[in-house]
Amino acid sequence: MKYQAVIFDLDGVLVHTDRYHYLAWKTIADELGVTFDEKINNRLRGVSRMACLEIVLETYDEPLTDEQKAYYAERKNQRYKQLLEELSTQDLSDEIRHTMVSLREHGVKLAIGSSSKNAKLILQRIGLDDFFDAVSDGTNIVHSKPHPEVFLKASDYLGILPQQCLVIEDAMAGVEAALAANMDCAVMGDALGHPQATYRLNHFPDLLHIVLGQDEKRKA
Ligand code: BG6
Ligand code: MG
Repeated sequence: MKYQAVIFDLDGVLVHTDRYHYLAWKTIADELGVTFDEKINNRLRGVSRMACLEIVLETYDEPLTDEQKAYYAERKNQRYKQLLEELSTQDLSDEIRHTMVSLREHGVKLAIGSSSKNAKLILQRIGLDDFFDAVSDGTNIVHSKPHPEVFLKASDYLGILPQQCLVIEDAMAGVEAALAANMDCAVMGDALGHPQATYRLNHFPDLLHIVLGQDEKRKA
């Protein structure tokens, strides 16, 4: 086996909550009257809520006080959580579920490595609250991605060395975090363009072959 553990990012990897993040930030950007599009949104992938707000505010004329920032970050989260109410077990694809179950059957440890403080709520809604061997998320870190902390904590919780963990990411900041943690990284979505990604995961079930060491050809 090439990797002992797989650490999954959550938003945009296991579930399409990246879309909800986009919609919630769009509401805030519209209220502030600032431009917000997919290109700006891609920079929000993997980074903490407050860091996202700073990016959204880049084109806002006046500086905001800390209280105002806290207000907008909270409003965004309220809107986001409203959208999360629509999330259900139907939002986890069979393809992803089956791949994770197969990995588990092969003795691979599975963890979450997410910057989100809503990770446990999302896992509950998609029926995975008791599924993972470890959950490292926005509630147990000081620094969000691209800092490696969230992945290093996940490997620590699992008791598996970073070099034996494979990270799955859709965010450029997440790939940076994985590399800084000394972990290989399989990428999807927006992170497909990262030049240092270890594997490009165009088809989720290929993950099994990558982890078992049967697929060198998909190496980026
Ligand atoms: C990451 C998302 O998973 O979590 C980011 O990719 C988001 O876009 C971050 O900002 C923090 O999420 P939350 O749910 O704590 O606001
Ligand atoms: Mg993500």
